[in-house]
Parts: sequence; C-alpha cells; structure tokens
Amino acid sequence: EAARSQTPTPAPGQAASAAMQNTHALSFPKGFRWGVATAAYQIEGAANADGKGPSIWDVYAHTPGKMANGDTGDVAIDHYHRYREDIQTIRGLGANAYRFSISWPRIFPNGTGKVNEAGMDFYSRLVDAQLEAGIEPFVTLYHWDLPQALQDKGGWQSRDTARAFADYAAAVAVRLGDRVKHFFTLNELQNFVDMGHQGTSIVVQGREQRIELAPGLKLSTRDLNQVAHHAVLAHGLSVQAMRAAGPGNLQIGPADVLFAAVPVSDTPANVRAAERATRTYNDRFLDVMLTGRYDDAYLAKAGPDAPRFTDEDMRAIGSPLDFVGVNIYVPKNYVEAADNASGFREIPTSLSHPRMGSRWHSFSPEVMYWGPRLVNSIWKPKAIYVTENGCAADDAMTPEGRVLDTDRLMYLRAVMTNLHRAIAEGAPVRGNFAWSAFDNLEWTGGYGVRFGLVHVDFATQRRTPKLSADWYRRAAEMNGVA
Ligand code: NOJ
Repeated sequence: EAARSQTPTPAPGQAASAAMQNTHALSFPKGFRWGVATAAYQIEGAANADGKGPSIWDVYAHTPGKMANGDTGDVAIDHYHRYREDIQTIRGLGANAYRFSISWPRIFPNGTGKVNEAGMDFYSRLVDAQLEAGIEPFVTLYHWDLPQALQDKGGWQSRDTARAFADYAAAVAVRLGDRVKHFFTLNELQNFVDMGHQGTSIVVQGREQRIELAPGLKLSTRDLNQVAHHAVLAHGLSVQAMRAAGPGNLQIGPADVLFAAVPVSDTPANVRAAERATRTYNDRFLDVMLTGRYDDAYLAKAGPDAPRFTDEDMRAIGSPLDFVGVNIYVPKNYVEAADNASGFREIPTSLSHPRMGSRWHSFSPEVMYWGPRLVNSIWKPKAIYVTENGCAADDAMTPEGRVLDTDRLMYLRAVMTNLHRAIAEGAPVRGNFAWSAFDNLEWTGGYGVRFGLVHVDFATQRRTPKLSADWYRRAAEMNGVA
C-alpha cells in the first residue's frame, strides 16, 4: 500500500489540492492517522478547578528542589480554559487525530468513589469540540497523574490501585465510549514505574545522570518489580473492565515506551540479536502485556526479587488487544550478534553521536524503522500506533514573530521517512502522534524544554505555529513525506 507514488491518495476528509501533490512524496496508507499528542498535567493547568483532587504531580512539583526553575503545572498552558481555541490550532496542524489524556483526579478526586460530574463534563466537551473539527479523539487514561489520595494508601505499591484504575477506566468508557473509539490504558509504564519508584540513570556523553519522576521513591528492586506488576495488572484489569462495561466496539491497547535495540547491520544474526535484546529490554512491560506471561529468562534473572502474581492476574494482563501503542524517541542501544548467553552485545553510543534538545535524546531516526519492524516480528500485534515521537529544540522567536525550528523539521522528516519504510515493508502501523502539539511542562525539566509544533509564550499564553508545524501540515494534507 505504502509506496513511492506520483498521485498520493488523500486521507478521508482531506482534499488534495494540485499544489499539495508532490511527485517525490512517499505516500502513507489510506486512512493513516496524522496525529499530535499531549498529556493532562503538562497542558491543562486549572489545578483545583471544578472539584479536581490533587495528583502526585501537584504534590511533587510543589516539593522544593524537584522541578527546574520551581515550575509547576498549576497554570501550564491553561488548556482547561482555552481548549476550544486549542482544538482549532490542532486542526490547523492538519491533524486528523488527537491523543490527549484524562486526569484521573478530575474524575475521581479521591481516586475512587463517586464520579465528579464537572470533571467528566470537561472531557465530554473536549471530545465534542474535536468531533466538530473533524479530529478523531484518542484517549490516554493514565499519563502519570495518580490521585494523591491513592498514593497516600500505597500508590502503585498496592494492588488496590490496579483495581481502582480499572473502575476509573470503565467509568470513562461508559461516559465517552459513544464518541471515543480508541483508548490507551497507561502511558510509558516502564518510565513511570522505574523513574518514579527508584530513579534511573542515563549516560550522556560518558557522564551518568539521574532521572526521576513523581512520586520520587527509592524502592528496592523487589518492591519495584511488584510496582511493575501492579502497573501491567492495572492495564489488564482495565481492558477487561472497559470491555465489560463500555460499548462493544472499543479499540484498546497500551501506550508504552519502546526500548528498542537497533542492529548495527541488517544480517539475520544481527536482527535476531536485536529481537532478543528488545524482548529483554521490555520484559516486565510490553512483553508481558503482549504475551500474557513473564519470560522465563526474566523470572530466572529476578530470582527472589520476582513479583508475586496469580494465574488470574496473568489472564487479565494477557487480555486480547486491538493494537499496541509505542512511544519511540531513542534506541536503548545499538547491538550486534554475540556468542554469549544473551545472544547480543551492546555497542556504546559514541561521544560525538548527534543529539536533540533534551539531555537523554540522541538523534537516531532509524529507530522509527527498526522499532515498528521489531515490534511486528517479535509480538505480531494486530496493529501498531506510534503514540509519541518528537524532540526538544532551542526555539527562539525572530523579530518577525516566527519560530524557525529547522532541527525539529529535519527530525520529523527523518523519523517519518523511516516510519514509511517500516510500513512499506509490512509493519501494521495505523498512525503517528507527534509529541507535542504545544510547548508544555516537560515534567522535572520544566517549561524550558520545548517539544511543541506550536510555540507557547507562557507569560501571555500566545500560541504560534513553528516552521515544523508547516511541514507537518503539508505531510498530513498529502498523506505523505516529502
Ligand atoms: C514521553 C512522555 O510520555 C511525555 O509526557 C514526555 O513529555 C515526552 N516523552 C518527552 O520527554
């Protein structure tokens, strides 16, 4: 379907004007979702509006020393009050799909109990605004803002949190499922589990740096593995609960971060090594959700630190999915085949490897080819969505009021070309969601780390589409990359 074509097929509802035709375009399959993504805490603000309860991010961001410049999400980009204008801006990006997250403590201020109707109503209006603008809503149910009330009862260390998440997911599916077809359960399980409950370190140009997320705990590996189990259990229970309570035709899957290995060359041995490494890197999360069992090698390696679980847990965790969503930014490693127990050898990233704006971001666009290819060959999901990709850049406004982010433009063209290749070779990728529609609160990195296709002046809340936004709009309009 996806091939070099002289007459690119427009996506449904998108008119291909003569000016949009491009004889060099790499066309995407018909109906491909050209999406953009955001998350509630990063954009909404309105931290106490309409009965919302505090989340772990409200508490964490107000803890001295945790956030760059003491930034918090109290106001963020005030999307809660400006959502109508923001949906029009997203339409202006050419997007035919929008991935946004629901703040659990807006729906259940204490995590469980009675639905806060005012909170639910906000998302109902947000969905209607998208449908009116011809944008298909894709909901993420958990993008890291756990109700603080549940954290106070043990958070993800407690099984009860998984149960509470399933109840919350079902309540949302019942209320929005008449208009929203696609639900992502949890976002980047591996990152919020590890960075939130132990902290991880990354090596940047040879130097080790620590990354932490809320709630900022430092658990033992045994307790961490149990938290990981509760996260995948939450995913599984929520799939069951949404299928039982919601309308019959919901499309459900996770939106995890993919830790991919990129083989140094495309030989059968190196590709096998990359598959082994990729399974290992994702053994507590994607692998267990997509196979319904813990890999023997993982359990053996974890030994006494392995999580405690029941057969019933595993049946829930392995619930059939309609697709898998993966956030793809960087490879975990380059690898080659090796004659050792693991079957692969990791190649350290060279010191002069090019980088994008945030400290963890090496520029390796080929991960957008290898990621979907490996996900497809290892787990054979029915469908794949790339639920995020994008980059931070040192954006500055010219005196004429433009943001000329040539680096982000280059990044987008490179990753989408690689994604095209994966699709052309058979990976069932149905859509891509660029991170992010708007500059926003980059977690502990604060507002200084800008990922948006649209620039936001945080003092005036003025939105200005960047040069990269023009590129994305053209690509979406011609359903192809040029
Ligand atoms: C992944 C996360 O899901 C998102 O919230 C974050 O802002 C981006 N990566 C960029 O770091």
